[in-house]
Amino acid sequence: MPTPVSGRLLMEKRTDWYEHPRYYEAIFGTDTVREVDFLQTLSERFGTGGKLWLEPACGAGRLVEEAARRGLRVVGYDISEAMLVHARKRLTPAQRRRVKLGPSRMESFADPSLEGQVDLAHCLVSTFRYLDSEAAARQHLLGTRRLLKPGGIYVLGFHLTDYARARPEHERWVGQVGEDRVVCNTNEGLPERRARRSPMRNRLRVTGPDKDWLIETEWHFRTYSHAQATKLFRDAGLRVLAGYTFDYDIDAPVERGSLRLDRVFVLQADPKSPAVDTPASARKAPRRPAAPSKSRKISR
Ligand SMILES: C[S@@+](CC[C@H](N)C(=O)[O-])C[C@H]1O[C@@H](n2cnc3c(N)ncnc32)[C@H](O)[C@@H]1O
Repeated sequence: MPTPVSGRLLMEKRTDWYEHPRYYEAIFGTDTVREVDFLQTLSERFGTGGKLWLEPACGAGRLVEEAARRGLRVVGYDISEAMLVHARKRLTPAQRRRVKLGPSRMESFADPSLEGQVDLAHCLVSTFRYLDSEAAARQHLLGTRRLLKPGGIYVLGFHLTDYARARPEHERWVGQVGEDRVVCNTNEGLPERRARRSPMRNRLRVTGPDKDWLIETEWHFRTYSHAQATKLFRDAGLRVLAGYTFDYDIDAPVERGSLRLDRVFVLQADPKSPAVDTPASARKAPRRPAAPSKSRKISR
């Protein structure tokens, strides 16, 4: 606990908001029911309507819990152990029987028992932008596509980037955890077009009877124009069935040419796309006549 100075608490600095799931969810947990309603409607309208869901980077499990509460079976994974601990704790024994959670990365998650089984996968609130290269993002999409049942969908929600933006963006939210008040300020700096990334900073100020914390987290998010996103989906053998915004309004699909940057893409494996997802280990190297070995001069 910080030492009080003349009756006031000294502010204590912390890093990494994902080490503090309760405060993270005080801000990002407010739309949970609406998000799961929306996902269920998408599943019925565009997908199989089936009961097996997958949440890559499931975090502290707010959406896992809500889906399990509705009788769905859920597989979730995340790299943060603190988030997973919180996710496990919140489930009732009956929900736990329908849920499988474990540590894994979006770039490499694989589970042979899930191949071709998943009815709906989803990854909302820009989490996909943590994948910091085209290769990592493509790997993730290919891996997830492989797990989808025929007709299953992957719902991916993230902010597109306006590369012409000249000012940083700022959002502020306020939440409450018991007696603690949480004020969240997120800044997205100017996009670096060539590096395909934006600097991000999140500040959570938590104040309560015995607490004054500043949890500050800095990272980079990968950037996507609409064209960059759709090219990536194509490369990963996915087609876009529909687009929405973070309003999660099923009756308001995004209009062609819309300037809204908050996007929810409804993706499905494209049957016309070549078998791009064959695991590297299973691919046969093409037989080629052995080339005579030659040393090559590399000019710089
Ligand atoms: C914005 S939170 C979203 C959590 C949850 N999906 C939700 O909607 O509440 C992002 C989560 O992504 C996780 N994460 C970030 N990079 C990851 C990666 N490469 N693989 C797996 N999880 C990752 C973080 O640990 C964090 O729990």
